[in-house]
Amino acid sequence: MQSELFIPESAPISLQENSKTTSEIEKLRDEIRFHDYQYYVLDNPLIPDNEYDNLFRKLQDLENQDPSLITPDSPTQRVGGKPLKSFDSITHRIPMLSLNNALTEEEAIAFDKRIREGLDQDELQYAVEPKFDGLAITLTYEDGKLVQGATRGDGYTGEDVTSNIKTIRSIPTKLHILDAPKLIEVRGEVLMLKKDFARLNKEQEEAGQKIFANPRNAAAGSLRQLDPNITRTRPLHFFAYGIGYFEGIPQFERHSDAMNFLDSLRIPVSSERDVVQGIQGLLNYYNKIGNKRENLPFDIDGVVYKVNHFNYQEQLGFVSRAPRWAIAHKFPAQEALTLIDSIDVQVGRTGAITPVARLSPVIVGGVTVTNATLHNQDEIDRKDIRVGDTVSVRRAGDVIPEVVKVIIEKRPEKSEPFNLLNLINSKCPVCGSHVIKQPDEVVARCTGGLFCSAQRKQAILHFASRRALNIEGLGEKLVDQLVNENLVTSLPDIYRLDLDTLAKLERMGRKSAQNILESIQKSKQTTFARFIYGLGIRNVGEATAKDLARYFGNLADLQSSDALKLQQVSDIGPIVAESIFQFFSEEHNKHVIDALIEAGINWESSPGQNLLEGKLNGMTFVLTGSLSTLSRDEAKELIEAAGGKVSGSVSKKTNYVIAGEDAGSKLLKARELGINVIDENAFRLMLN
Ligand code: IVH
Repeated sequence: MQSELFIPESAPISLQENSKTTSEIEKLRDEIRFHDYQYYVLDNPLIPDNEYDNLFRKLQDLENQDPSLITPDSPTQRVGGKPLKSFDSITHRIPMLSLNNALTEEEAIAFDKRIREGLDQDELQYAVEPKFDGLAITLTYEDGKLVQGATRGDGYTGEDVTSNIKTIRSIPTKLHILDAPKLIEVRGEVLMLKKDFARLNKEQEEAGQKIFANPRNAAAGSLRQLDPNITRTRPLHFFAYGIGYFEGIPQFERHSDAMNFLDSLRIPVSSERDVVQGIQGLLNYYNKIGNKRENLPFDIDGVVYKVNHFNYQEQLGFVSRAPRWAIAHKFPAQEALTLIDSIDVQVGRTGAITPVARLSPVIVGGVTVTNATLHNQDEIDRKDIRVGDTVSVRRAGDVIPEVVKVIIEKRPEKSEPFNLLNLINSKCPVCGSHVIKQPDEVVARCTGGLFCSAQRKQAILHFASRRALNIEGLGEKLVDQLVNENLVTSLPDIYRLDLDTLAKLERMGRKSAQNILESIQKSKQTTFARFIYGLGIRNVGEATAKDLARYFGNLADLQSSDALKLQQVSDIGPIVAESIFQFFSEEHNKHVIDALIEAGINWESSPGQNLLEGKLNGMTFVLTGSLSTLSRDEAKELIEAAGGKVSGSVSKKTNYVIAGEDAGSKLLKARELGINVIDENAFRLMLN
């Protein structure tokens, strides 16, 4: 039978060689899985990024040489796949139930009393855990391989989100165990870390995209994307809190043992989990986690108490849709009421005009809050926020405080709806340039570009930031002075600063000036990815900058690529490609880049992965059916760029037929003649 998988004709693989490659591939995969665990679960990377990238690339190369060796649990298979039209619905083998809540200490005491009386015990042992504020999912592993990820849904049926789940790097696609259980369902919560949420919202805001109200919504919105390539760019995490259905795992006596077992499989479990005795143990834990709440990297809305012994759990059973043996002890909401004194605007790096509420100072979760972001006019309209309103304000960790809602009953008479563009008379409050709002965007933007000192300041701060050129000491106060005194009008000016100029600035001694000059000097030796990221191209975050650097390897190729070529980079779609193309087309951006390079910024160059030239030399392709991410013309362009030819009909001379959806007679002909038939993915693998 003719295989549809791509098997290179020119390099037949002997069985012996094949098994050598297989074991090499498996070894590499295990090594990558181990480093994923160190990085994403333990937050303790043992090797630098570029070494990890090398391992990954080596695996990709080996798999590309013989795609028949690719297995679904390979680390390379975490990358998306095709967008879905809708999610399939699945039925949970064991329903995913909810928890009853205790809102006060009295209710927690009553819970413990009920349990003790029900079991006729004086004191009980409890497993205690944070109550993660994300969304519940269940992971199914068969023979140690991740085969399905599904949402909770209504508890009985959920949605199959397997492709999206696979993009979450802390979730292993293969369990770390030799004698894998036949079947195990791992239950837990998908969430977004507070710092990732803040960064995502900032990027969304700048890009004029949807703002998420909190990390939970951001996690849910990201996991329920039909296109796994979008989910892949969203930093999601997972914590397990239990086991659902299982076959072939050891018998555990206690929940805490089951959790330790999951930990040993390298499934992420919270290190905040504990085992305590009696009600005093529960309340101590509640207070301990409550005090830590602010500093935890993720949002929690309480703690969960679970009777630890499974035989007691069984005796207690369930009431309607929740177990009798567990309860969620909730924390009070981190919200407070205050007044909006006025509404101001701020101008961001890409000119986005963000309305900011100035509040009467109020303490929320132990911190005084005086400002809250209102995001954009759409958000203001949706919540109908007006100056003089009493509002409830929420904060979570380091995230910028937000107005949750207006208390309408407290609205003063004579209040007016707020209109951002009216307030500023459609002019940038900083530079006076025209402010416009594109019909497809929610944000209004200043059109002043780097003429606008606010944008200039933000662009410099971004360029100097830790993940970009990492110029230590070049912070907000200094940038303010440098821009206000016209010492830095564009990025290359940073490299023209001298000791005398800096030392003359307010509150700057010669020693600090010297230190800053040294970090400016140090920043010249950088990486290509940092440089791209530092340029502040719209829609190009750190991950995209890394992808671009890896793909192009050098500046000239990146600068001269059109939007179509840019889309060949994994994860880059038409919108991002257009932003990048626009950026490099602007004459003034070219000058800035030239001047930066001239100032001495440099990095170690790499060959890049786009060297298509010659890869398909002498090969003839036939296209049939419709491809999902490329038009016929685009596919043809790619084949020709790599030295191949495209023919209209299948013959013995055809090397490969690329078949898309609804492929017709050409596919049949290829089968008849025994020509290799490959799909779009295999074609991309050949190119990359
Ligand atoms: S145990 C049968 N443990 O809370 C009991 N749930 O309100 C199953 N949740 O749907 C739940 N952290 O998504 C459990 N440590 C934890 C949890 C937790 C968060 C969520 C879970 C569940 C909801 C119930």
